[in-house]
Amino acid sequence: MDISTNEIIRQRKSVRTFTGEKLNEEDVKSINEYISAVDDPFGVPVTFRLLSAEEYGLSSPVIVGAENYIAAKVKKVPDFELAYGYCFEKVCLFAASKGLGTVILAATLSRSAFETAMKLSEDEVMPAASPIGYPARKMSIRETMMRNGLKADERIPFEKLFFNGSFENGLDKAKAGKFAEALEAVRWAPSATNKQPWRAVADGDRIHFYELKILKESALGDIQKVDIGIALANFELMMQNSGHFVFNEPPITKPDNTHYITTFVL
Ligand SMILES: Cc1cc2nc3c(=O)[nH]c(=O)nc-3n(C[C@H](O)[C@H](O)[C@H](O)COP(=O)(O)O)c2cc1C
Repeated sequence: MDISTNEIIRQRKSVRTFTGEKLNEEDVKSINEYISAVDDPFGVPVTFRLLSAEEYGLSSPVIVGAENYIAAKVKKVPDFELAYGYCFEKVCLFAASKGLGTVILAATLSRSAFETAMKLSEDEVMPAASPIGYPARKMSIRETMMRNGLKADERIPFEKLFFNGSFENGLDKAKAGKFAEALEAVRWAPSATNKQPWRAVADGDRIHFYELKILKESALGDIQKVDIGIALANFELMMQNSGHFVFNEPPITKPDNTHYITTFVL
C-alpha cells in the first residue's frame, strides 16, 4: 500500500449528505469497471451493481441528496460475510480515492426496492447497499446527530482491541512492529453501529483475527462478520501483499462470545 492508500483509509468517513447531483459519466465508467473486477481472498464471488435511485425508487431515511447507490449480492456459502465486507470496503475505498462519499447501510434502507433492483435469486442475499455520490459541504442535522450518537469519530483504544500472545496482554502499538499501521487501519474501519467487533492476537509473524459477537445473526447472515471482512481488507491493503490468510485456529484461550475467524501469515 502506498502512502495515499493509507491516507484514504485513515481519512474515510461515512457520508450521508450529498449534493443531489447524479454521478458524471466518467465516474460511472470507473465505478463500473472497478466493481466488475473486485475480488477477495476467500474465493466467494460478490456481485455489485451501480443503481439509479430514481429508476428503482431507492431511498434511505438517513440519506439526503443521493442519486446513485451501489448494492451487492452474494450466495449464502460459508464465509460469505467475510468476502462481502472485504469487497464492499474495497469499493468504498475506491470511491473515496475519487472524492466520492459512501456509507454502508444494512438497516436503514428501502430494502425491498433494493432487492428487486438486484434481482436476488433464492440462494442469494443482499446484506447491504450504499449511496455513492458527491459529498455535500455541510452535513444534514440528522447526520451530525447520528455521528454524535454513534460516537463515529471515536474508536476503542488499540491495546483493548489487539493483544500480544494471549487475550491477557494488551498490545502496545509501539511494540506492534510491522503490524502497527495495518492494525491501526483495522481500528478505524467502519462497522455496524460502530461496534468494532474485531479483536486480534499478535503471535510472531502471525496475526490471529477474532470476532466479538454482540449482535444476533439474521436471515441476512452475521453482520458483524461483514465488519470483520471490512477490517481484513484494510489490514491486507496496508500489508501490501506481504502475506496471506489461512484458516487454522491456534490454541489460544478466548474470552466469552469471541470466535476465531482467520490468521494473517507474513
Ligand atoms: C456492516 C455495516 C452496516 C451499517 N449499517 C448502517 C445503517 O443501516 N445505517 C447507517 O446510518 N449507518 C450504517 N453503517 C455505518 C456505521 O454507522 C459507521 O460506519 C460507523 O458509525 C463509523 O463511522 P465512520 O464510518 O464514519 O467511521 C453501517 C456500517 C457497516 C460497516
